Amino acid sequence: MSKLEAPQETKTGQLRAHLLALIDRELQPGEKLPTERDLAEQFGVSRLTVRRAVDRLETDQLVYRVQGAGTFVSHKSIAKTIELTSFSEDMRSRGLEPGSRLIDAAQVPAGARVGFALGISPADPVVRIRRVRTANGTPMCLEHSYVPIAIAPGLLDQPMDGSLYDVLERAYKIRLERADQSIKATVLELEEAELLAVRPLAPALLVERVTYDQRGRAAELAKSIYRGDRYSYEITIHREG
Ligand code: GLP
Repeated sequence: MSKLEAPQETKTGQLRAHLLALIDRELQPGEKLPTERDLAEQFGVSRLTVRRAVDRLETDQLVYRVQGAGTFVSHKSIAKTIELTSFSEDMRSRGLEPGSRLIDAAQVPAGARVGFALGISPADPVVRIRRVRTANGTPMCLEHSYVPIAIAPGLLDQPMDGSLYDVLERAYKIRLERADQSIKATVLELEEAELLAVRPLAPALLVERVTYDQRGRAAELAKSIYRGDRYSYEITIHREG
């Protein structure tokens, strides 16, 4: 994201990045974080915003609060936190322009597997969105998303050519907070290979993610099939101690 923008969202992001860096590099386990008031002043945000950022760190068990004394760095490593990003953000961070080609979108019953993953009953309606995701115009990934109607009524009327996370966050005020994700090797079936413009049985990465909102509700199940020749999953990890 450009450093020129400084809306509230950016400041909140900067605050979070600052706190993560502070915990990772400067403070020892057991050391105290700056006070809410100091952080609010430093970043020009409200104390409520600071509290939310610290709440999140507490949920991730990176800090703990002691009543009347302050907030302290816990003994867990920051390496366990990986940013929850959308496809669009992911591509932009690699300097690529994200795109979306809608295959279809429909309201369907969740069914047993999707319902189980989302914690709803098989008969409950979900919006199923199938998209080819592109990077600089080249097919990169085939993405099947399932969003419970109860979470996002009228989702089918929203634009589907951009970022789904943006729609959920802006139109429905859903704050996507955490996700459970698995990554597996797979090969592309005939139809999948055609959509991704590669040969059938080409290797691919299957990423399955259930994303939860600020209330702990499952907001999306997504099955993303990435071209093995185009995509690599890269993270930075730290050794404890
Ligand atoms: C990633 C996630 C999907 C999610 C998508 C949203 O690919 N694995 O679960 O649907 O991001 O991306 P965007 O907001 O660009 O539509």
